[in-house]
Amino acid sequence: MQSVFFSRRQPILSLLLLLLRRIWAQEPAGTAPSTPPVVPECPEACTCTPGGMINCSALALPAVPAGLSWRIRVLLLDHNRMSTLPPGAFAGAGALLCLDLRENRLQSVHARAFWGLGMLQSLDLSANQLEALSPGTFAPLRALRSLSLAGNRLALLEPSALGALPLLRALSLQDNSLSALAPDLLDGLPALDMLSLRGNPWACGCALRPLCSWLRKHPRPASETETLLCVSPRHQTLSLLTAFPDAAFRHCAQPLTVRDLAVVYALGPVSFLASLATCLALGSVLTACGARRRRLRSAVRRLPRRPPDPETPASLADPGSPAAAPTQA
Ligand SMILES: *[C@@H]1O[C@H](CO)[C@@H](O)[C@H](O)[C@H]1NC(C)=O
Repeated sequence: MQSVFFSRRQPILSLLLLLLRRIWAQEPAGTAPSTPPVVPECPEACTCTPGGMINCSALALPAVPAGLSWRIRVLLLDHNRMSTLPPGAFAGAGALLCLDLRENRLQSVHARAFWGLGMLQSLDLSANQLEALSPGTFAPLRALRSLSLAGNRLALLEPSALGALPLLRALSLQDNSLSALAPDLLDGLPALDMLSLRGNPWACGCALRPLCSWLRKHPRPASETETLLCVSPRHQTLSLLTAFPDAAFRHCAQPLTVRDLAVVYALGPVSFLASLATCLALGSVLTACGARRRRLRSAVRRLPRRPPDPETPASLADPGSPAAAPTQA
């Protein structure tokens, strides 16, 4: 039985062997035939490993290398000379997990630069020259766990730039020019646990309230919180950010809650509909009154021409109606 089975499989086996020999023949001389062919196509000058890491560190690259493949897991582009990231800069690298863009000259990142990186877990944009980020820049990065924007020139970070990053645990904003964080910035980051803030000119005013309340809910080691200091206003200079209880913000106007907003938004259409209904009602009442008055006037005009009929006095009008009154007068 076995020999029959084997002999039946033999043509398939020899075909496989033939195929393998052809593949080995195509490999450049010197490589061991046992190396699995999983090395992604390697961009020029970069070094690539079978595990899917592409190392393009410190090569003075002015742009992201072209032809990135689905096999790449880690892409090191740190210490290069990129000043901008165009739309779809990483197209094709849909399985990328880790992207290092530290120490470039990035001044702008297109809002669609990170499109297609739905599996990316770690993004390092530190030590660049970013002053602002477009809305939606990080929106495609739904799997992101760690984001560093440290050492840029951000004076403002719009919540829409970060968007909702449900898995983001670590966010570094240290060494920027931030004086406050927008109230809803932290709302879209439910998993956030590590937030690096030092080295920013925090202004300890009402705008800092959401951040202070977040810091109270996420206590950090003293060594770290001691570095979070206000730079303005003058009477608060060098106060610790964590030293402000919620009571310190009592003088600030309460931000509108969701319920307040719902009331505001509901009030508009409701009052519009109410005024429309009132106008319609008033209009129809006025029209009815006008019609009645016209009828009355024509009735009055008609009356003197006719000889008074003693048998049917005011029979045309209902008794008690306004039309009845002039006929009796
Ligand atoms: C990447 O390449 C650079 C320079 O060739 C090297 O210094 C660095 O250690 C490499 N990084 C990794 C993670 O292999």
